[in-house]
Amino acid sequence: MTPPRRLSPTWTRIALGAVAAVIIAACGDNATNGDTGISPQDPELAAQGAGLYQASCAECHGRDLRGTERGPSFLSNVYEPNHHSDVAFLFAVQRGTSAHHWRFGDMPPIEGLTGDEVGAIVAFVRETQRIEGFESYPP
Ligand code: HEC
Repeated sequence: MTPPRRLSPTWTRIALGAVAAVIIAACGDNATNGDTGISPQDPELAAQGAGLYQASCAECHGRDLRGTERGPSFLSNVYEPNHHSDVAFLFAVQRGTSAHHWRFGDMPPIEGLTGDEVGAIVAFVRETQRIEGFESYPP
């Protein structure tokens, strides 16, 4: 008996099914991401980040991330990941940042957060951006 040269119809169907499943999964992902291109974040990390964000960032950037009279909205598309990368968050927390995109004044360095904690805050911010989408800049 020589082994079959071609895949049996059953295997072909399974293989095509697998390819279709991958394509559908990829499209489904896109649909939930809207146009942000941000992938879903680790839920536990984002939940941890939510608490830290509310404690350290919300007084200026807003409890809902939409800003206050003291700081800008993180849903502004100026804070898209390819405009302000995750490391920009670490720098802003460690060094503060001088007013350059807005007229809220300077952001002071924020004390008492480890790098991992800033990472959790970023996960929360990215997850919220992914779900809410972006506002235009300037508003
Ligand atoms: C006292 C108010 C205040 C607090 C608290 C604050 N920020 Fe800000 N933040 C600002 C202001 C104002 C700006 C806008 C500066 C500008 O004009 O671009 C800003 C800008 C930023 C930027 C953009 C930096 C850049 O490179 O343009 C990041 C990232 C950021 N904040 C992260 C955070 C995080 C994370 C926290 C909490 C750990 C936080 N901020 C807490 C006021 C604040």
